[in-house]
Amino acid sequence: ATPLAREGYGRRPVVIAHRGASAYAPENTLAAVDAAAFMGFDWVENDVQRTKDGVLVVIHDDSLARTTDAEQRFPERSPWKVGDFTAAEIATLDAGSWFGEEWTGQRVPTLTQYLDRVEYNGQKLLLEIKKPELYPGIEHDALRVLGEEGWLDRGHVRHRLVVQSFGVDTVRAVHRARPDVVTGFLGKPPVSELPAYAEFTDQINPSHTSLTADYVAAVHRLKGPHHKPLRVSTWTVNDAEGAVRVRDFGVDGVITNKPDVVRDAIEGR
Ligand code: G3P
Ligand code: CA
Repeated sequence: ATPLAREGYGRRPVVIAHRGASAYAPENTLAAVDAAAFMGFDWVENDVQRTKDGVLVVIHDDSLARTTDAEQRFPERSPWKVGDFTAAEIATLDAGSWFGEEWTGQRVPTLTQYLDRVEYNGQKLLLEIKKPELYPGIEHDALRVLGEEGWLDRGHVRHRLVVQSFGVDTVRAVHRARPDVVTGFLGKPPVSELPAYAEFTDQINPSHTSLTADYVAAVHRLKGPHHKPLRVSTWTVNDAEGAVRVRDFGVDGVITNKPDVVRDAIEGR
């Protein structure tokens, strides 16, 4: 144990606002990024998909139906798939009123708009490439936009960005195209397979539901492509009890809709 650990200081994980501070503002909007900043949180997580005309936008579901007014606006376009709409059409949708009338006017941001706001707020981004099987080559689109916006410059790429996906081929492709980008695999591979993952991913990010202290320790024993111990960020932990549980497993990050609740819990307040 380090001297600090002997004094009783536990290691505190980073708190990551899931889809922004999504318990308090509509998920994956600029308002949710701002809510996280307002509450003092550096890290936000988002989900990136691609429109019919090849523009990357920030939205979780592969349908627009749940978090926008697409169903009312375009009743004949069921099932309102993100990939069936142009960026110009999506830009006209309301992405706030489903969450509460006071959020009316929020939009589905493009990745470019989103990066600009995160940058302006001085925040950092855990970018999820969502459903890559629906959008062949999306990892290269994401790297292109990140590059255009300066997010692959040295300061950003080392300290402000992690690119993660449930798609193992996607994570591997990001690593191969830009070995300097910090990557994360969403899931919980068997411990015996972790060394193979450590060739191309810096983080193993599993659901909290099946996580154990032993698994976190097994991940930490390995070094990733940047010769640092692999890290673990777990999702989605929204209550104090769960936050203390995963903190005591030794995780490096907690991804949460309620960053304030998790911060207070892991700091023992
Ligand atoms: O960041 C991990 C987490 O967001 C994965 O699940 O469905 O919320 O994107 P989901
Ligand atoms: Ca996500």
